[in-house]
Amino acid sequence: MEILFSTNPTRKANAVVIGVYKDRIFSKQADELDQKSQGALSKALKSAEFKGLKDNALLLSALYGIDTDYVLVVGLGDKESIDEKQLYTLGGRIVGQLRKTSVTHAEIRLEDIEARHVSLAETSGKIALGSLLRDWRFDKYRTTIKEEDKPKLTQLSFIVKDAAAAKAAFEPLKKLSDGIFLTREVVSEPPNVIYPETLAEKAKELSKLGVKVEILNEKQMKALGMGALLGVGQGSIRESQLAVMQWQGGNKNDQPLAFIGKGVTFDTGGISLKPAANMDEMKADMGGAAVVMGLMKALAGRKAAINAVGVIGIVENMPSGSAQRPGDIVTTMSGQTIEVLNTDAEGRLVLADALWYTQDRFKPQLMVNLATLTGAIVVALGHEYAGLFSNNDELAERLSAAGEKMEEKLWRLPLHENYNKDIDSDVADVKNISSGRGAGSITAAQFLERFVNKMPWAHLDIAGVTWSSKDLALSRKGATAFGVRLLNCFIQDYYENQA
Ligand code: BES
Ligand code: MN
Ligand code: ZN
Repeated sequence: MEILFSTNPTRKANAVVIGVYKDRIFSKQADELDQKSQGALSKALKSAEFKGLKDNALLLSALYGIDTDYVLVVGLGDKESIDEKQLYTLGGRIVGQLRKTSVTHAEIRLEDIEARHVSLAETSGKIALGSLLRDWRFDKYRTTIKEEDKPKLTQLSFIVKDAAAAKAAFEPLKKLSDGIFLTREVVSEPPNVIYPETLAEKAKELSKLGVKVEILNEKQMKALGMGALLGVGQGSIRESQLAVMQWQGGNKNDQPLAFIGKGVTFDTGGISLKPAANMDEMKADMGGAAVVMGLMKALAGRKAAINAVGVIGIVENMPSGSAQRPGDIVTTMSGQTIEVLNTDAEGRLVLADALWYTQDRFKPQLMVNLATLTGAIVVALGHEYAGLFSNNDELAERLSAAGEKMEEKLWRLPLHENYNKDIDSDVADVKNISSGRGAGSITAAQFLERFVNKMPWAHLDIAGVTWSSKDLALSRKGATAFGVRLLNCFIQDYYENQA
């Protein structure tokens, strides 16, 4: 979909989009349209009992005095309480509505809606980002698409006061969308296409944008002592990989921010095999790694003034004659030994070595890891919030605030030494499942904490939010890329351009 900004319509559109606040209060641009229609718009809204609430939308056709086929009226809710995240969902809503029609080119007249803390120049770009995100689809493998399912909407023209300023404000958001789409793409690809080597290749492609990318193979990881990560991958015919991505946009000597992702390209459970039902969803078990890749792409694309490193551990968890057994004891890069009691608790094994490697090599300011780590987080929080665990209150608060702002919400859960005791092993330093029942997401987080070497760290358990079984405000059914917008905002608000 093409996004354009202009002061005057350049080419005839077949729909125009305007906004109306609660109690049918018109925005300035809606008022102009009403005058042009000699009051036909007001009349139509009244007879349709349109209230202007946040989720209201009304599609009018052949309105008197208006030469586009359609007028889409979107509700804006309370004039005083419009915030940034509402602009994104508004963009998504417009696409959701227009997709039901044959409209190919829509003109958006929404610049003057005055969201809090958002300038005039930024307003249209934020709406545009929401539209792009909602419009994205993964159709690569559908060789026949029904006529009514074919994408028709190809152009959105935003009518703005200062086109150059609006375009400039949109540019970094466009780059952000490129990162988000990379995340969604690699999560959507099937597990016979995305496996450790091919996911690592996708990471390698970021070097075109100026990201320094290194790929470590099994031999190199063995030399580093990464016995936990390698143990997970040993049952697969695919070679395990570690991808290290560095973006140097800040001062040369500034310590980087580090982002670490779980990249299990397919999780069968291994010898502790998962049941057959819905096992296909485990192709998305590399969702954390995909978010890190998408974030690095966004940072490089918009030339973020920050040093960041992304480290992703990439393995396939398969049962086979060479697979790891329940009872195996592996030695990690940190030197700590792990008793593997369940081969399906593999994400933490991968992250144990990836986290240790990251802090050891880069001495970052902080580490944030993302992982589709536990089914238990889905039991606790469903598909609305991701789980947040941290050893640092300031870091946890900053992440929560960014999540709130971007509507990628986080809920903090506790860490405590008593949970930590539950993963002490009788025969090794730690075991990969707890002896107690319950608190499965917390004991998984406790396990990770043993490999962060006491530096500021947060763990996002995104098992419930990486994939959606229904259409959402900013994404269709499928891969969401939850985390990319959140972390991009976290970096921008707290670490970039700081004096
Ligand atoms: N990848 C799964 C977690 C998961 C579950 C992700 C549902 C997305 C949706 C993880 O590797 C796993 O299998 N965890 C086990 C841990 C258990 C064996 C301690 C789980 O949650 O059942
Ligand atoms: Mn598993
Ligand atoms: Zn897993």
